[in-house]
Amino acid sequence: MALTRRELLQWSLSAGASVAAGTTPLRAFAQNAGAPCPFGAALYLPDLEADPRLGREIAGHCQRVTPVSELKWTTSRPAPGVFDFAAADRIADFARGDGLAMHGHTLLWYAENPDWVSALSPSEAERVMADHIETVMLRYRDVAQSWDVVNEPIPDVAPSPEARRDSVWRALVGDDYVAQAFHRAHDIAPDALLVLNEYDLEFAIEHSPAKRDAFSHLVHELVDGGAPITAVGLQAHLRGGWPIAKDELARFVEDMRALGLAILVTELDVMDHELPGPLAERDALIAAQVEDFLAAVTASGPLHSITTWGLTDKFTWVRWAYPRADGRGNRPLPFDENYAPKPMFEVIDHYRSMP
Ligand code: XIL
Repeated sequence: MALTRRELLQWSLSAGASVAAGTTPLRAFAQNAGAPCPFGAALYLPDLEADPRLGREIAGHCQRVTPVSELKWTTSRPAPGVFDFAAADRIADFARGDGLAMHGHTLLWYAENPDWVSALSPSEAERVMADHIETVMLRYRDVAQSWDVVNEPIPDVAPSPEARRDSVWRALVGDDYVAQAFHRAHDIAPDALLVLNEYDLEFAIEHSPAKRDAFSHLVHELVDGGAPITAVGLQAHLRGGWPIAKDELARFVEDMRALGLAILVTELDVMDHELPGPLAERDALIAAQVEDFLAAVTASGPLHSITTWGLTDKFTWVRWAYPRADGRGNRPLPFDENYAPKPMFEVIDHYRSMP
């Protein structure tokens, strides 16, 4: 496995150091050996191409990068048996060139699947799933040692802890598709960090507590059943104004750690469409919510990494998915549209520097 110098350094500082010290690999992932927590940003290829400064800023601030869409099936799997890695390769080459680690997002998701997938028979679906995991993980094994194996397995409204989100994979393969995917990923890359990734796990209100319970239930079921999951990904698309369930979230994370799992923050941003307009007030509320979140998820130990869903407010899905009624630009990310750091960055900087 060809690692860049920077990756080797990161590795020796974190998981590798614990392995050398004689702990089990599972525990080692969770401990992070007191190293500073790597910071990452998600990157969408058209943005990188539109603004050369974006790549320079990511390379300057980050140790990790996550492809936004390039590994999703609608992009990478245009037809049965066909792989299109043109876009993902560009992100991987950017990462390699700047010594960043790539986080693989995502091997399986309920969304953004091409129509041909739904036409598969159950046995074909199992084969296609296994083949996809093998081909993609092997292609990027030099640069990606962490993977969202399954993204968003829990429905928004989870009426019981057993609730699972409907997806084409679930319809074709059954609930076992999640465990099967982890086994396959582990067979292909036994040393990779294998993540179950989810959103809306952090709030005190609405559907979030039930979703947290259902997610926790699924993780326990996977671990009890022997699936080689090694990490939990908290997307953390924070809904501006929604209170963070500080104690419950801290307890949930502690419980995940007790299973030997690493904790990643994978897609942090703040949906600020319903927050007050004035910038200083809005930025302060955003920073305070991020503080509440990061304080809770680090209460029982360090994070494996913190990744924001983009770096600058200039390029963010929140601008088109959750536009503000007052026409003012959204400010969900740590840097403003001129790449100046905002209070949110100071909070992230504090937590990524925590011993
Ligand atoms: C979003 C992208 O940012 C959009 O550009 C795309 O159209 C839809 O997906 N959770 C995830 C991400 O895991 O893949 C999503 O990214 C945001 C929510």
